[in-house]
Amino acid sequence: MTTKNAAITAVGGYVPEHVLTNADLEQMVDTSDEWILSRTGIKERRILKPASLGTSFMAIKAAQNLLKKKNLDPIEIDLVIVATTTPDMPVSSTAAYVATEIGADNAFAYDLQGACSGFLFGMSAASAHILSGRYKKVLLIGADTMSSVIDYTDRTTCVIFGDGAGAVLFEPNEEGLGLQDEVLRVDGSGRTFLKIEAGGSMLPASKETVAENKHFLHQEGRQVFKFAVSNMSAAIEQVLKRNDLSKDEIDFVIAHQANKRILDAISNHLDLKPDQMLINIERYGNTTAATLPLLLWDYEDQLKKNQKLLFTAFGGGFTWGASYLTWAYNT
Ligand code: UT7
Repeated sequence: MTTKNAAITAVGGYVPEHVLTNADLEQMVDTSDEWILSRTGIKERRILKPASLGTSFMAIKAAQNLLKKKNLDPIEIDLVIVATTTPDMPVSSTAAYVATEIGADNAFAYDLQGACSGFLFGMSAASAHILSGRYKKVLLIGADTMSSVIDYTDRTTCVIFGDGAGAVLFEPNEEGLGLQDEVLRVDGSGRTFLKIEAGGSMLPASKETVAENKHFLHQEGRQVFKFAVSNMSAAIEQVLKRNDLSKDEIDFVIAHQANKRILDAISNHLDLKPDQMLINIERYGNTTAATLPLLLWDYEDQLKKNQKLLFTAFGGGFTWGASYLTWAYNT
């Protein structure tokens, strides 16, 4: 068989049942539905309860949803990648646990930490594993339990984030459909603007770090916003140019759901038509590595074979990029 490309051939997803609304948040911090909706576009987000279920719980559910829809025996899976910033434990591998629990007994597995760009970077990794010719079925999952690292007394972060997981299967494609090109970048100086300071090797957990709330996510939102808009727009423009594509040839832009105003700014910058940009932030908030596959999960019915999709993301690190993928199947 001639492997020309690695294509997405199935999609699955899972969001927890518990809904945290803007009205709920009004009871918790000094905020308002009006502020949250107008500044972020978010109406509600899902929260994993009990939190002790861990990110693997959602990743397993998303994978099982995919396996059922695709009628796939997990024994056929060669590799499981879990893109996450909120693994079950610092050690050991969440992906290993997910692979075992779903019955992927012939697979190896690893976690990929790329913050909000984790799934985008994972698409690159999944595709490269397929193109090596050694692996035929790679399960890529983006999953994050952001509620486990959010300070619910900090109104600048607690209104934004939510929990969820999405999964895709990458397989060889002989027609040349699938991942075509990508521009992936990092800028490590960005870690001052978006971070969880404690719990790593630089500042291990201690009574002091807990007392000082240093295990929670801290973000300088305005700075991150500016970098997100400019870098995602530039990465998209580079991918379009390299592939000799005009924006009108793109069927859908699948962008990281961090803030509706970021999506609007990218749309304005690229002069996109309103229905080119897929959006579901109003229901889930920012689910970090899960936003891209959850968009695919929600909009799978609208995706048709040969359509041209642009993926883009931006996150902690900083990490960002854009990928060009042609869709490989009709539902
Ligand atoms: O996914 C990873 C990448 N992350 C992102 O891309 C996030 C990028 N950043 C953002 O989405 C936005 O910056 C935020 C949604 C985080 C904040 O929105 P903003 O429009 O940039 O607000 P701001 O930080 O400039 O704050 C404006 C005002 C401040 O009050 P003062 O100082 O002007 O009196 C904040 O204290 O809004 C206040 N504020 C709030 N007010 C009501 C901040 N959060 C809230 C809140 N409710 N929840």
